[in-house]
Amino acid sequence: MATLNNAPRDSFSSRIGVIAAAAGSAVGLGNIWRFPYVAGENGGGAFLLIYLGFILAIGFPVMLAELTIGRRAQLNALGSFKKLAPGKPWFLVGLMGIVAAFLILAFYSTIAGWTLEYLIQAIGNQFAGKSPNQLKESFEIFQSGTFRPLLWQMIFMFLTGYIVYSGVKNGIEKYTKILMPVLFLLILVMTVRSVTLEGASGGLNFLFKPDFSKITWPVVLDALGQAAFSLSIGMGALITYGSYIQKNNPLPNIALQVTAADTLIAILAGVMIFPAVFAFNIDPAEGFGLVFIVLPNIFEQMAGGYFFSILFFVLLAIAALTSTVSVLEVVVAYFSEELKMTRNKATIIASVAISFVGVFATLSFGPLSDDIIFGRTIFGWFDYLSANVFLPVGALAIVVFVGWFMGKRNVKNEITNEGSLKVLFFPVFIWIVRLIAPVAIAVVFLYGLGVLKL
Ligand code: PHE
Repeated sequence: MATLNNAPRDSFSSRIGVIAAAAGSAVGLGNIWRFPYVAGENGGGAFLLIYLGFILAIGFPVMLAELTIGRRAQLNALGSFKKLAPGKPWFLVGLMGIVAAFLILAFYSTIAGWTLEYLIQAIGNQFAGKSPNQLKESFEIFQSGTFRPLLWQMIFMFLTGYIVYSGVKNGIEKYTKILMPVLFLLILVMTVRSVTLEGASGGLNFLFKPDFSKITWPVVLDALGQAAFSLSIGMGALITYGSYIQKNNPLPNIALQVTAADTLIAILAGVMIFPAVFAFNIDPAEGFGLVFIVLPNIFEQMAGGYFFSILFFVLLAIAALTSTVSVLEVVVAYFSEELKMTRNKATIIASVAISFVGVFATLSFGPLSDDIIFGRTIFGWFDYLSANVFLPVGALAIVVFVGWFMGKRNVKNEITNEGSLKVLFFPVFIWIVRLIAPVAIAVVFLYGLGVLKL
């Protein structure tokens, strides 16, 4: 690590910048595309409740644990474990995170590409005058294509690589702190339109009236996976970002604000989507395409829909971009710090390799759509495996590491900024990471996969 000791390590310049970058990572397609489709498939209200429980009891503590590891070690996800537990196999957790980053980016870039297509459609005023059925049909035609979805995916991967190459800390913080609040306001406006549609109340009931008969172990695992995915935890993105946080910034506040912002946006996305789902007679269990079918319908019914649709897809693409950047940064920080590549080379190699894998995810909706392996397409597997397997297992390892192997004094020093910060909930935190979170994650994971049965 000689070079790292000589050159001061790059870091986020301000606390607002940290929050913007971490919130930028958390808020993305996970909130606006994935949350509605998963909640829709899992029956709505009861799923939402379980999801919120996981955010609070597991998501927030894991986020704090990750930031703590990263800032303590001042290294990439794998290097952090190597440094904090030398000669032990904990670095494998970092390695798993890097694999997860590949998987996530491969399918996330497909959907991010869809947002670019929809931006162009919005600019071309192509939602106007179309019926819900026509909008659904045009989505399906686009989605099952080859050239356009791949082109958008590649453009998106290029943009991600470009930002990571220029350095996460220079651009990201500047833009996200302005654009995220605008996205929030825009979703609010669209939510108002959605809930005032005729027939909207069915959607509110769906989302807020829990029907516990819908709850099975796989549903609970979906909720855990969605919580982890949405908060960007379990694969080292926040270890990596944590390593760029200055020592005087308060980690607990950062984790709390990011968790709150992410959760608020997910719930709002639900309130924006489900009333419209019911108003337009769309199936809430429509799946991956849900929001791309619903959103144009809302714009079509909205005063100023043309303007709002353009603004919305611009912001959604940027929200996706600030997330993909954090995923790619995991790989690039690892390649450059551990494998001693230049950032330039690391970014190119990682982006090209991930784009290659990503082709299979995108073609899962077209030429490869008949290739069903154990009930899922390739895209379906990437999505399922990353959220429901890699992230929960990663999160489990992270809490066990912080709870039992990092040393309570180290953990406390890092979280309290060497004692200068009062963190009243520290004793609760410690028992969550030692016991509650590990047991909860393990139980949900094993029952959710059907390894254990009641
Ligand atoms: N949290 C991001 C989103 O909601 C996705 C993501 C997952 C980012 C895992 C980093 C790590 O869109």
